[in-house]
Amino acid sequence: MIATARRRVPTARPAPSPEMVEVVRRGLTATPRALPPWLFYDARGSALFEDITRLPEYYLTRAEREIFATQGGAILDAAAPDPRTAIVELGAGTASKTRLLLGEQLRRHGAARYVPIDVSASALAIATAELAAELPTLEVEPWASSTEAAMPRLAAMAGPKAVLFIGSSIGNYDHPEAIALLRGVRDAVAAGDTLVLGTDLRKDPAVMVPAYDDRRGVTAAFNLNLLARLNRELDADFDLARFRHVAVWNAARSRIEMHLESVVEQRVHVGALELVVEFAAGERLHTESSVKYDLGLVDEIVGAAGFGRIATFTDGGGRFAVHVARAR
Ligand code: AVI
Repeated sequence: MIATARRRVPTARPAPSPEMVEVVRRGLTATPRALPPWLFYDARGSALFEDITRLPEYYLTRAEREIFATQGGAILDAAAPDPRTAIVELGAGTASKTRLLLGEQLRRHGAARYVPIDVSASALAIATAELAAELPTLEVEPWASSTEAAMPRLAAMAGPKAVLFIGSSIGNYDHPEAIALLRGVRDAVAAGDTLVLGTDLRKDPAVMVPAYDDRRGVTAAFNLNLLARLNRELDADFDLARFRHVAVWNAARSRIEMHLESVVEQRVHVGALELVVEFAAGERLHTESSVKYDLGLVDEIVGAAGFGRIATFTDGGGRFAVHVARAR
């Protein structure tokens, strides 16, 4: 396909972060091409993800909520038996599921302390306002921070801690990254403190694949929105109609993979990177992996990070699990 010259119209485009420039350059020039999933979450991507959590095919959120609603007391018995335990949540968002646990902790002890950590200050503001209305006696201390940057502050926090990393977020990390992240948590807590980890469970691909390729096309829009973001923020010219959303089960690596497949042979320009990328017809850009766990894999990951699993809770359908692991 022949490239056409584009007329440059000066715009007041905010400068992209150096981190974004770097990961996109590396990802688009790699073989095979791949971009990290955190790029999904601009304002539209975050709204689309909220829509995904309500889709009939996307069982993960409902299954985890069911576990908290029906087994919250038992989870707290294992994770936070000491009433002074601070409940710390990594990537807390609006804390929509965690409030089930927080309500239970308040009912048991009359007091509870919650430290939600998230890069999104606006999500934390929503969480704090809603929790103040719903659970007025809950002590809430929001930290607007990335997980990595919050670790020294977590290490300096006195008293027992239960650290929540739920929502299958661990699934979006490959094994070395997942171990490194949990090792960072382990280094910031004391022996006896706990980790509460939500993982999706490996099951029939006929159930898993539609969760990432829904009939309404919301997940496809979520995936393609990444290209719209690159167009807007990096002055790229991806034609979204020339890419299609693909979700596949990779059995060897126990993960669902999302890709954007080039429908035709084409050339894409990324103005801010002064980069031209040639896509062959059928060539794929890997945008996300969602690892599906079994108990052996959970034990491997949490064990390598310095925790030992002490309890696992599953939903009635056996689709999703919440594990409690203790720091050794
Ligand atoms: C955020 N994360 C746990 C979701 C998942 O299931 O891997 C992201 C997602 N991607 C497509 N659908 C949902």
